[in-house]
Amino acid sequence: MLKYAMIGGGPGAFVGGVHRRALALNGQARLVAGCFSRDLEKSRVLGRELELDGDRVYATPEELARLEAGDVDFAVVVTSNEAHYPNVKACLLSGINVMCDKPFTHTSAQAEELVRLARERRLVLAVTYTYAGYPMVRQMREMIARGDVGEVRFVNCEYPQGWLAEPVETSGNVQASWRTDPERSGGVLSLGDVGTHVEYLVPHVTGLTLTRLAARLDSLVEGRTLDDNGVILTEYDTGARGVYWYSQAATGTVNGLRLRVFGDRGGLEWFQEDPDHLRYTPINEPARIITRGTPELLPGAMAYSHTPAGHPEGWLLAFANIYKSFCDTIATGAAMDFPTGEDGLRGVRFMEACLQSSRQGTAWIDIP
Ligand SMILES: NC(=O)c1ccc[n+]([C@@H]2O[C@H](COP(=O)([O-])OP(=O)(O)OC[C@H]3O[C@@H](n4cnc5c(N)ncnc54)[C@H](O)[C@@H]3O)[C@@H](O)[C@H]2O)c1
Repeated sequence: MLKYAMIGGGPGAFVGGVHRRALALNGQARLVAGCFSRDLEKSRVLGRELELDGDRVYATPEELARLEAGDVDFAVVVTSNEAHYPNVKACLLSGINVMCDKPFTHTSAQAEELVRLARERRLVLAVTYTYAGYPMVRQMREMIARGDVGEVRFVNCEYPQGWLAEPVETSGNVQASWRTDPERSGGVLSLGDVGTHVEYLVPHVTGLTLTRLAARLDSLVEGRTLDDNGVILTEYDTGARGVYWYSQAATGTVNGLRLRVFGDRGGLEWFQEDPDHLRYTPINEPARIITRGTPELLPGAMAYSHTPAGHPEGWLLAFANIYKSFCDTIATGAAMDFPTGEDGLRGVRFMEACLQSSRQGTAWIDIP
């Protein structure tokens, strides 16, 4: 059993509890320490609820990193975005492996520094691009790699949410208030929150490398200064093309991440709200629905499938799957099969390129 500490994820927080539940599902790691909030009293309340030793609930992340070095196997950073960089850095400098939520950092210079620190100290650094943990996303990846759609010519990925279709940041919604504050979110709203998931997923599934993009970022909700909607044209190393659309002002949508890949021999489609099914359309043949849990699943997908066919799996198990591989790497040195700090860095470069493009009237920008 590995031991971990958590930074962020305090009382009332959204995603910290999801990380804790996902880790508990795997049974590979036990929470032993935390700095869950900037407010020590709030951290203590949660520490008691989680039955932590009171001495291991800390006033600051720096103190946690210093005093837990050597005692924990990894730290989970699930704070609002502005606190990712300093807290990941403090952990790495203390020799602690880190899982950080996305978007990784505010700037690519910060992300480069963290990746370098992890590499120099031989530490495991990962980023929770959750959707890579779904078995049917793994199935899609393996099918494309073995040539089931032929050569990929076009990719379409969209991620609409509707929870910011009204200015809820002005009426006390905690999650909306820091996300719409440029200082805390990193100068982006939905691009960082959902656009980075799209950025990670497409190359991860297709094997394509993004080489150029042209972006138009908008604020659809009156009075908002940061983007809540964006459309991005993309080009890849093979000559393939794509279109991304992300939004948090898409009224009436919930969590509509959808990935469609079109090759010269077939197409594939996966929709996050129906995560156990994949639609495969070989050219000139009827569409086939591939169902998670059935014998036709490829080995990589099968290995991360938990319940029998027809008993739906979802988001929580996708988080657990990312952690399974992360913990295996820390415990046994198993090959990394999860989004890494390098992937986090690529996500930050993508955000910077989108911002630059949009400011220059949707100009084409080369990706470094
Ligand atoms: N991977 C995913 O699918 C996913 C989903 C949701 C959120 N996220 C990411 O997770 C992070 C947290 O988002 P959230 O919605 O849970 O935010 P939140 O506001 O609900 O929670 C943030 C928590 O961090 C704490 N915190 C902030 N600064 C801190 C510091 N310096 N030290 C200790 N604690 C601190 C806050 O007190 C709070 O408890 C964000 O980066 C977000 O983008 C990822």
